[in-house]
Amino acid sequence: MKRITIAQAAQHLGEPVELAGWLYNLRRSGKICFPQVRDGSGIMQCVAVKNQLPEPVFEALKNLTQESSLLVRGKIRAEARAPGGFEMDVEDAEVVQRVDESAPYPISLKEHGPDFLLDHRHLWIRSRRQHAILRVRHEVIKAVRDYFDSNGFILADTPIFTPAACEGTTTLFEVNYFDDEKVYLTQSGQLYNEATAAAFGKVYTFGPTFRAEKSKTRRHLTEFWMVEPEMAYATLEDVKHVAEEMICFVVGRVLEHRQAELAVLERDISKLETVKAPFPRISYDDAVETLRKKGSGIEWGGDFGGADETLLSEDYDRPVMVDRYPSQIKAFYFEPDPQRPELALGVDVLAPQGYGEIIGGGQRIHDLKLLEQRIREHNLPPEAFNWYLDLRRFGSVPHAGFGMGIERCVTWITGIDHLRETIPFPRMLYRTRP
Ligand code: 4AD
Ligand code: MG
Repeated sequence: MKRITIAQAAQHLGEPVELAGWLYNLRRSGKICFPQVRDGSGIMQCVAVKNQLPEPVFEALKNLTQESSLLVRGKIRAEARAPGGFEMDVEDAEVVQRVDESAPYPISLKEHGPDFLLDHRHLWIRSRRQHAILRVRHEVIKAVRDYFDSNGFILADTPIFTPAACEGTTTLFEVNYFDDEKVYLTQSGQLYNEATAAAFGKVYTFGPTFRAEKSKTRRHLTEFWMVEPEMAYATLEDVKHVAEEMICFVVGRVLEHRQAELAVLERDISKLETVKAPFPRISYDDAVETLRKKGSGIEWGGDFGGADETLLSEDYDRPVMVDRYPSQIKAFYFEPDPQRPELALGVDVLAPQGYGEIIGGGQRIHDLKLLEQRIREHNLPPEAFNWYLDLRRFGSVPHAGFGMGIERCVTWITGIDHLRETIPFPRMLYRTRP
């Protein structure tokens, strides 16, 4: 008998097929029972009728425990009233492993607290909502890759063990390498992207990044995935253009392919349908003025907090780009604005509906002398940056790029409250397990 996935049901109506999955839920009434089987691609409501099945098969199904693994065989028909739109009439079934009722599956369909669920993350990911969020994550990652792959970017992976800080020395995770050598887990692949961009023109890296940030907010992980494009012969304006085009492409893909998941999450998709170019562009100066009018206590020169980002984005129905922050609150590598050297040619993209910063990037310093000076001013160890300075010695050009945190992006697109649900196994201030 042909084994199919639940997602393929529509192509096999009326044929004898086998599904391989787990028991999601079970309703029963005397001579009939309705096991709902999930297989990772969907949920199928099955119908098992006592007098149409061998006695032991019916009894096994009727008394099956939640999340037991099983094979079910039968024919599928369209059924508008069933959860997925189809139903299987069971002709045979085989239990692969029966969950013992003395130690039942710990996550029931009722409510559990977040700590309990996070402790059981290895099982929680089987539930409908988590499943929908992680499928959107998959779509976002696929769309991001497709966008860069079809726009002339080369994937060039960057290392995770690194000798130097990219985003400030206060958030480094130190690792004991061999023979007492200290290395750090990367905060960003950017510095290496600058090298590969000089070799290939347009590149991107996509991998895990680490920040020892002691912030316990709904926007911070200590380990997160970042996609970072970098372009040679490019400026801040190119970064804005690519970021805008990429976000529109990604949101469009999710709307096209993940309607069912967005429906499970009760996402108001009208709030995603407005995500079209051009995005509003404001300067840091304007942003500070707007924030002060709205009652924020921010002073010129300060960085935006989460509440400020929410206040700024609430005026727009699509992401907003804020550029030219004071250099003093930005990383060492930003090219200064030629008109006002106290400003950095950097941009942050803030998602609408209070989801905050999803992208940070900008134009890099390409002048050797200035970069050497910044490395000194930021008290960075010059020997760790010698290779990086070579990029300014051998054919230096204006270049620019950005980084988008995948979990921040997925949190916004799915419309959920906390980014810990957007990664299969979140790592946070007080959580390194399971
Ligand atoms: O703004 P950030 O720190 O920029 C960089 O790392 C640049 N070197 C990127 C580049 O230009 N190549 O981080 C970029 C993005 C943020 O906008 C945010 O989406 C995400 O990374 N991010 C985090 N996501 C989850 N948890 C954290 N602790 C994050 N810190 C940054
Ligand atoms: Mg940033």
